[in-house]
Amino acid sequence: MARFFKPQKKSLDTQHKEFEILRFDHHGEGVALEGEKPVYISGVLPGEKVIVQLIENKRHYAKAKLIKILQESPERIAPFCVHYGICGGCQLQHLNHDAQIEAKQETLRQITKKITPNLLPLTPPVICSPKGYRRRARFSVKVNKTGRLEMGFRQRHSKEIVTLTQCPVLEPCIEALIPSLYALLDSLKGRRIIGHIELVSAEPQPALLVRTVKRLHKQDKKQLDFFAKEHDLILYLQEEETAPIRLYGERPFYCIKDLKLQFEPQDFIQVNKRVNEKMVSQALEWLAIKPEDKVLDLFCGLGNFSLPLSQKAAQLVGIEGIEAMVERAENNGKINALQNLQFYHSNLEDDPNNTFWGKQKYHKILLDPARAGALELMRYVAKTGATRIVYVSCNPISLARDAQILINQGYRLEKMGMLDMFPHTGHLESMSLFIKI
Ligand SMILES: C[S@@+](CC[C@H](N)C(=O)[O-])C[C@H]1O[C@@H](n2cnc3c(N)ncnc32)[C@H](O)[C@@H]1O
Repeated sequence: MARFFKPQKKSLDTQHKEFEILRFDHHGEGVALEGEKPVYISGVLPGEKVIVQLIENKRHYAKAKLIKILQESPERIAPFCVHYGICGGCQLQHLNHDAQIEAKQETLRQITKKITPNLLPLTPPVICSPKGYRRRARFSVKVNKTGRLEMGFRQRHSKEIVTLTQCPVLEPCIEALIPSLYALLDSLKGRRIIGHIELVSAEPQPALLVRTVKRLHKQDKKQLDFFAKEHDLILYLQEEETAPIRLYGERPFYCIKDLKLQFEPQDFIQVNKRVNEKMVSQALEWLAIKPEDKVLDLFCGLGNFSLPLSQKAAQLVGIEGIEAMVERAENNGKINALQNLQFYHSNLEDDPNNTFWGKQKYHKILLDPARAGALELMRYVAKTGATRIVYVSCNPISLARDAQILINQGYRLEKMGMLDMFPHTGHLESMSLFIKI
């Protein structure tokens, strides 16, 4: 029988090592160098000297866990949440908020240096209070091996759940529900069949969605209903693979300017209400919409930008890849009595030149893609000849790539600035304005 050579697995060198942290990566992790290889470490700050232990060693990078800080950064502060360090929700609570903003601005500055020949000063960051800012949370729920119910976010780098007693980044009206919600779920006959819950701070009341993997017992449904009434919540139940059903309360909505936007608890909505309001205002200002303008809103979701844009423009066309969201956007146009809006369902990874909406001319374009960015779209966007393009990004890497395409196609980067949508996390939201040369 042929014998194949099996390479021996190299054992991980777990000896403690000393490093100096050079910078943050795009996720808020500290980066040190071992020779030329980057080593990524959570919970550390640039300038700090630390002792670490490798937990992963690949050909082009390694990951290490912090053992001891030998020299602290002056920017280091005590985290305000008791779960910080274990919970995977926040990554930067150990860095003061001003320095978090500066670190994210610095990432944007590096992008502008790469893609523009002239030095471009960043616009002032769009900020709000860094606590109580999240208007939605999705908590995983499970009964562990010892029979204890767990409810919360996943641990950092793990599938384990951190049972939360608090979450000070959530809006207070939903954070306050954590202890009583835990007690409710723990008391249900079907506590083992709950998969997760969604909590959303909405109008006219906060919304709670309970997702179960099997049908819930009648008695449990009664208890959920009683809880919703007692706490004045909109209640949704999603059993097995069925669609969520609203059992109590009106359809949730949020307001932006004088507009009302309805949504369902699992829909994408911008997580930070106050930054969202400022972001939409800034987009309107940067696009400088004129009454005769025809505007294209790509990745429009349920109309968060489209509706305010349509109030200033002659016509607004919104494109979205999830059919249910297109229906939501159309309905939002109707309930706000706006008539100059059209929404289309399209996969924006496909060539828009083959679509009805893609053959039209637009004066201004807004795009707000998911993390992957909009690589396939950028040539189309540039060819429309739109005079102003606003690009809202949640990923600096795809932003840099897509911005370069616009610049190569005859646009100038006019403005760029960060939006503090996710304080205490490594996520970087930003807005850029491109002008046709
Ligand atoms: C970051 S969200 C922005 C939504 C909206 N602009 C807002 O402010 O609420 C991105 C949106 O793009 C949509 N999307 C993601 N990939 C898409 C694709 N390939 N084609 C079309 N839409 C897509 C998502 O469904 C989501 O609604």
